Amino acid sequence: MSSKIIVIIGAPGAGKGTQSRLLSEEYGYPQISTGEILREMARADTALGQTVKETMAEGRLVSDEILAEVIRARTTQPDCKDGYILDGYPRTLDQARLLEELASQQGKQIRFARIVVSEEALSKRLMGRRACPRCGEIYNIYFRPPKVDGVCDLDGAELVQRSDDHPEPVIRRLEEYKRSTAPLIDYYSKSGRLIEINGEQPVDDVFEKLLAAVDGPNN
Ligand code: AP5
Repeated sequence: MSSKIIVIIGAPGAGKGTQSRLLSEEYGYPQISTGEILREMARADTALGQTVKETMAEGRLVSDEILAEVIRARTTQPDCKDGYILDGYPRTLDQARLLEELASQQGKQIRFARIVVSEEALSKRLMGRRACPRCGEIYNIYFRPPKVDGVCDLDGAELVQRSDDHPEPVIRRLEEYKRSTAPLIDYYSKSGRLIEINGEQPVDDVFEKLLAAVDGPNN
């Protein structure tokens, strides 16, 4: 495959992280989750860390300026040379414009895929999500429970629930998605470059369709 940026778009809980992880294993490209990078920043005892932490806890989007720095710094690392997977970026039109600029500077093609899931299913997925703090494996108490309650199948670590996976921030995140990210979807759809995939199917079926979209003719 030639040098590519694979962009996975979707509402909170659509399965971006789950699918990006599989794509990363398939292609050997790094998975760049802006949510993960920001959570790491939020743990730092700095003014910036505090701002990021508060914004995320409220379920709002972190500013485009902060994201621009994050994405430039991360995508110019050596492991991104052959390609990378964007999980959670872009989410606004400004971010989309910056990505086009970066792709052209880096000589990479962009592939866009959107995972579509109904709002009812999204809420259940978010409230039921648990993750392994050690290896990052994602579970769901309703759809993909671990073998032993609360424990990672892979390394035995105790699973954790994200602070923004509680009812109030979940409602705000879904609203924020409609307000800020929906215009971006219109923009990509109109340019005919967005492949839409039904995310309400088993994980492996979604993955199979994503692979076809990524390897298919120009989208
Ligand atoms: P981020 O961490 O990216 O959160 P998100 O967009 O809300 O998405 P999620 O991680 O919640 O869901 P996902 O789509 O990855 O689903 P997953 O695979 O885990 O961002 C967090 C915050 O950071 C944002 O709110 C914002 O504040 C900030 N931020 C990040 N990027 C930003 C940006 N670009 N600009 C500004 N701010 C930014 O799956 C969810 C659950 O469903 C899991 O339990 C999973 O097991 C289950 N599941 C997955 N697939 C299936 C399936 N096919 N069937 C059944 N269950 C499934």
